Amino acid sequence: MKRHTAKFMLALSFIAVVLLAARPDPIKEKAKGLKDYYSKFFSIGVAIRPTDPSNHDQRTLILSEFNSITPENAMKMGPIHPQENTYFWRDADSIVAFGVQNKIKVRGHTLCWHAQTPDWLFVDSAGKDVSKKVLLQRLKSHINTVVSRYKGKVYAWDVVNEVIADDSTYFRKTKWSEITGEDFVEKAFEYAHEADPKAILFYNDYNTEIPAKREKIYRMLKNLLAKGVPIHGVGLQAHWSINTPSREELEKSIQLFSSLGLQIQFTELDISVYTGRQGGQMIQGQGQMQAAVFTPEMEQKQLEKYKMIFEVFRKYPKEITGVTFWNLSDKYSWLDGRGRKNFPLLFDTNLKPKKAYWEVVKF
Ligand code: XIL
Repeated sequence: MKRHTAKFMLALSFIAVVLLAARPDPIKEKAKGLKDYYSKFFSIGVAIRPTDPSNHDQRTLILSEFNSITPENAMKMGPIHPQENTYFWRDADSIVAFGVQNKIKVRGHTLCWHAQTPDWLFVDSAGKDVSKKVLLQRLKSHINTVVSRYKGKVYAWDVVNEVIADDSTYFRKTKWSEITGEDFVEKAFEYAHEADPKAILFYNDYNTEIPAKREKIYRMLKNLLAKGVPIHGVGLQAHWSINTPSREELEKSIQLFSSLGLQIQFTELDISVYTGRQGGQMIQGQGQMQAAVFTPEMEQKQLEKYKMIFEVFRKYPKEITGVTFWNLSDKYSWLDGRGRKNFPLLFDTNLKPKKAYWEVVKF
């Protein structure tokens, strides 16, 4: 009897050891991530800061859920090219290296924009506006330097960002348009194509589901294509809210832009829980006094919006080649800095999937 018990105990411990050894590594064996659910549709990306991959939990989340990254700020003209003869590569380099090491695609963002530009860009040493010729030379040199550095590592670039006006005018009034007219747009694409002929080049903008702005962007893209400008895709930023866009307007945008033969990516997706926003700007007086809580009503409206937009995205797998979230989790989002906390993403402040996440992957 005793001998049997001993044998039994031995057998049990053997089984326990075997089971323990075979225990799944929680990181490797984590259930499917967004990128896996959507592998037959498009890549799923996230905008990151250089510090994100150094945090263990954030790194794990990036690697398990996403197969594309975009530097949130590190490649913008101001941060990467602070003085005419000085480039600051550290942050962008580290993000690109993280992507390459982990076989994650890297989207470049952005080569030409009116915001986050360096002080020196538009003026000469006496502080006067430079000529069109000088500004275009500077643009060329900037694009050539940045795109060449990441050639073969960055697969797609947001070449030009946000040049169409939100008001009833056509082109946004900026230093770029003041000095060069509209010419900087096509020049930027030409310079980028010259520097890396294999990179996929995007025009990127927001409020692309608002009919008047959609029409203007369409008109500009059509003109560029007619002139033979090397442009391959349109980035629809997708800074949305629990109220916008509607299914109809979203589908119209996808259909209209893809009718030009351009590929479509949703490049900066977030769904603000506040409604007083248009295109990343607070409308004065609205939304500002809301408490920093994620109410059940916000949660419900947000999950319905996420469910709807992903239903639409899945209808257009040929047209859409990527969907990128603008930040990783509600722990930090660029929308927080507007007087109150926002909760715009699919992972909560503890990096756990929200209810909206399960709506996005249930199909
Ligand atoms: C935002 C970043 O998220 C912020 O950290 C920064 O302070 C401002 O820019 N449209 C764009 C993005 O194309 O580059 C912007 O990113 C958000 C709006």
